Amino acid sequence: MDDNDDMLEKIQEYLESTNNELVKATKLKHGILHSEITLELQSFCDVSKIEKSLVGLPFYVKCHTPILTSSPTTGSFRLLIPNDEIKTVKFNKSKARDSSKIFIGAKDDGSDLYLNLTWGSHVLLAGATGSGKSMLIHTMIQSLLSSGGTNIIFLDPKRVESQVYEGIYGVQTAHSINQINHTLKEVKTWVNNRYAVMAKTNTRDAIDAWYKSYASGRWDYEDVRPTILIIDEIADLFNDSKEAKNSILVLSSKARAAGLRIILATQRPDSKIIDGAIKANFTTRICLKTSSRVDSRIVLGVAGAEHLLGRGHGLLMPPTGELIPFQGAYVDPITMSMRSHDKPISFRLNEEKGNNRIINEDLANVAQSLTDDIPDWIDE
Ligand SMILES: Nc1ncnc2c1ncn2[C@@H]1O[C@H](COP(=O)(O)OP(=O)(O)O)[C@@H](O)[C@H]1O
Ligand SMILES: [Mg+2]
Repeated sequence: MDDNDDMLEKIQEYLESTNNELVKATKLKHGILHSEITLELQSFCDVSKIEKSLVGLPFYVKCHTPILTSSPTTGSFRLLIPNDEIKTVKFNKSKARDSSKIFIGAKDDGSDLYLNLTWGSHVLLAGATGSGKSMLIHTMIQSLLSSGGTNIIFLDPKRVESQVYEGIYGVQTAHSINQINHTLKEVKTWVNNRYAVMAKTNTRDAIDAWYKSYASGRWDYEDVRPTILIIDEIADLFNDSKEAKNSILVLSSKARAAGLRIILATQRPDSKIIDGAIKANFTTRICLKTSSRVDSRIVLGVAGAEHLLGRGHGLLMPPTGELIPFQGAYVDPITMSMRSHDKPISFRLNEEKGNNRIINEDLANVAQSLTDDIPDWIDE
């Protein structure tokens, strides 16, 4: 790519040479991942027309295919032209913040990018094989482990990714369909208990309560700390087990207030897997390189992710709908398999130790006094 300020001129020249009166390239900003060009609309037109007119741009400017994104807040369009070299962003423990934020990588301006648990939404992570989904899951798990204070459950139908955590970390893992369904049942029971504790302590939103107490350093709400349920490659699991799919749907629609956050990864974001119910409940989207523009549309509502470069190069769409380009962080295998972290968590759903003290002591009493606040599905 011509990495100099002539680029803007060249792009404008190209637009003029294609008789494109629709847009004007007005601003250029070099980031660590892309050159970002602001396009100003000269007249109203639909996006596909602009996309079409950009087809020849990589040949003229000698650059990667641009990703066209629009901003719902400003109404402007921008072109993201990926830099020649992918920037490797490494995970290290200093990136971990408090547990309400999960580190995922770097933004174009070089600053750190986090998923925020207080956004209150579940996360859909999509991308073709090799796009970096599993690596991003490892980054998120490492970030959570380093900051401590959350329970992590990693369902891994393909088994390969969760092996590093088996018997080592405070991450509960499951891989066979039986184990996965059993774990999901345990999570439902846990949510049931959680609602009981919340009713007793008059808490409406567990994560909010937990986060406030965390921030104030009081930890009064240790009993309502968040649980992150991560599932790598849901497509085959959903096809093989209706029970698993149903459990995940029920949990995703009902258990948010209880402090459960679900992260689903899939290489096949087709509409059979990502149906309306999933879409409605998983409003934070992370899209890595997709194999087609159709897949990009399913995940983000717009094309473009098919032009990402792979290996963790992605677009984050928080519930607000804006698109944030980023490079996912890389965790090296040594960091991944290291034994200790600062605040070890020995979380097993069946072992209700100190953290669930209230549940053990008072659950029977509390359960009796509960009527309205517990949704009826949890007793099924
Ligand atoms: N963030 C990243 N930075 C650098 N390389 C990466 C990154 N993510 C993935 N890769 C490379 O791409 C390969 C495939 O990534 P993986 O996470 O297994 O993809 P997926 O799960 O989407 O099939 C990895 O083995 C690694 O070499
Ligand atoms: Mg994978």
